[in-house]
Amino acid sequence: MARMSVPSFFAAASAFALLAACSGGAENGAEDSAADTPAEIEQRQENFKAIGDSFKAIREQLETDAPDFAVITPAAADINERLQRLPDLFPDGTSVEAGYDTEALATIWEDPEGFAEAIENGVAASADMMAAAATGDPEAVGGQVGNLGLNGCKACHEKYRVDDE
Ligand code: HEC
Repeated sequence: MARMSVPSFFAAASAFALLAACSGGAENGAEDSAADTPAEIEQRQENFKAIGDSFKAIREQLETDAPDFAVITPAAADINERLQRLPDLFPDGTSVEAGYDTEALATIWEDPEGFAEAIENGVAASADMMAAAATGDPEAVGGQVGNLGLNGCKACHEKYRVDDE
């Protein structure tokens, strides 16, 4: 049955109209979804908070007379492991510019290579911190606090996080 009957032509036309209406609806849907926060935003903020806590724990130990490596060593490993999770925690377009409750700038998705590099630099600096912790030398750890803070945390925050200072 190759010939299209008139009724089926109308059916096709109205199916097309319906599609058009639906894609209009999809646009509204995208706006709606900006209102409810995807789980990844909360997960990444929790992950960063924990990174911040571990980094603080290391710095606090260095201020004591006898830095405790039972605190420093797992904290360094925790930062390293958590930084490696970052690639999964930034689903497309979950930026502050898109209306989400986040400090993640749209630059993250506009410059994916730069962001991936910032993650790698953070992971590498935290691996150096782990190596310093393994030496048991507080001065070595102290040197890596500066390195990780500047080349890991700060370098990424300056480019990809809302500057709220
Ligand atoms: C590759 C980029 C990158 C690296 C590396 C990075 N951060 Fe962040 N950080 C971000 C972004 C982006 C946000 C905002 C996340 C959001 O609001 O969704 C953030 C947020 C934070 C927050 C706030 C979390 C909250 O919502 O309360 C803390 C604390 C933080 N980072 C600490 C650190 C520390 C400490 C380091 C280094 C050990 C670090 N970050 C390394 C990109 C990075």
